[in-house]
Amino acid sequence: MSAYRATKSRAAAPLATPNAPEAAAASALRAAVAEIRAQFPALSREHGGRPYSYLDGPGGTQVPRRTIDAMSRYLERSNANHEGGFATSEESDAILAEAHAAAADFLGAGGPDEVAFGQNMTTLTFSVSRAIGRTLKPGDEIVVTRLDHDANVAPWLALQEERGVTVRWVGIREADCTLDLADLERALGPRTRMVAVGLASNAVGTINPVRQIVAMAHAAGAMTYVDAVHAAPHVPIDVKAFDTDFLVCSPYKFFGPHLGLLYGKPERLERLASYKVRPAPDTGSGKWETGTLPGESIAGVLGTFDYLAWLGREFGGAGAGASRRAALVAAVETIQAAERGLSLAALAALGEVPGLKLHGITDPVRVVERVPTFAFTLAGHSPREVAAELGRAGIAVWDGDYYAYELIRALGLAESGGMVRVGFVHYNETSEIERLAEALRSIAAGRGAGGTS
Ligand SMILES: Cc1ncc(COP(=O)(O)O)c(C=O)c1O
Repeated sequence: MSAYRATKSRAAAPLATPNAPEAAAASALRAAVAEIRAQFPALSREHGGRPYSYLDGPGGTQVPRRTIDAMSRYLERSNANHEGGFATSEESDAILAEAHAAAADFLGAGGPDEVAFGQNMTTLTFSVSRAIGRTLKPGDEIVVTRLDHDANVAPWLALQEERGVTVRWVGIREADCTLDLADLERALGPRTRMVAVGLASNAVGTINPVRQIVAMAHAAGAMTYVDAVHAAPHVPIDVKAFDTDFLVCSPYKFFGPHLGLLYGKPERLERLASYKVRPAPDTGSGKWETGTLPGESIAGVLGTFDYLAWLGREFGGAGAGASRRAALVAAVETIQAAERGLSLAALAALGEVPGLKLHGITDPVRVVERVPTFAFTLAGHSPREVAAELGRAGIAVWDGDYYAYELIRALGLAESGGMVRVGFVHYNETSEIERLAEALRSIAAGRGAGGTS
């Protein structure tokens, strides 16, 4: 148990400047990083006698022991299909019901019927967009952005062909990779039916002003579909405060198993006709959860929520009697405040690597507008070469476009291999930033990263 405690928990405020209790909670969390890391078995992996450095979080995070245990327990004791009249099926149904309730708490939804699990965000988005497509007419308009992951673009583009809708684009300001809201204003009109936007960029870490974007879309009479996949491990999610019609995220990006998670306003979910088999329910989550769900993974995500609630109580100031929602909000608020320290350290360290060009928000004063995900190029070295060299040194990072397809093209980097991407989450240590910067300086100087493969 840590000796550190914060003093207060607050409602979700994604872009708020940290106040004193939040700052205290954040430094408590940073100070207890060894205790945090001990919860994640994968983090004990070594490479060449040093800890393996997981800076690949944007592609998927590691999971705490609670998640692994919950998955094993499910497979050992409660592995059954749903709605049977026997003990294991009843137990499995109870676990799945509890996981829906916990997911609703995580997102700030009104209840378990407002959320559905699926294979991943992409599959859920194709399913919902097709159901929405059934309601659209030729000439209706959908707005997408050049900052989004293609999973929140391609499903909407498909409706051009299928339903004759018109897709309108919102561009970026290249200097800091933020969304051009004047472009959004221009794109909205009387025929706009949907605005699809991300909460945070999976490439450059920009946090979008989603409340403002939702308000603009609603003022134009359009629905909103928010991709919170990249934001979920970093930014508190409150679907009611965002007022979004839909939101999607993926537990495997926030310390859970490989799954997708959908939220929809009840009136939206009810009215849409989903693609499903006839005996499946016509209401609630079941309408969107096609086929047999991966029960062990959904049980595992319950372990993830337990871990996060523990973190919120231990470090985020949520008292022992706090609700699960309050504990989860406290956890992610504390993580967000702690990660600002990581962002500042990374901005400073990357800024000193010769030939490194960082894309996105680089001004430390604006650190609240980003999550600790950084994309860069290194002069004279292709992104794949840098990533492979870091990989040989036991530092896992991504290169390419990571499906931020439009952004990489807007920046003119598609032909040259995209960018190297490093992502930090709350279990990463400051020493990993120093190690990364040292390896990059060595690569820049033509000495390689000094790795063993
Ligand atoms: C921002 C963002 N949206 C969507 C996706 C797709 O998620 P999934 O793999 O759950 O389909 C990703 C995955 O990298 C992502 O980072």
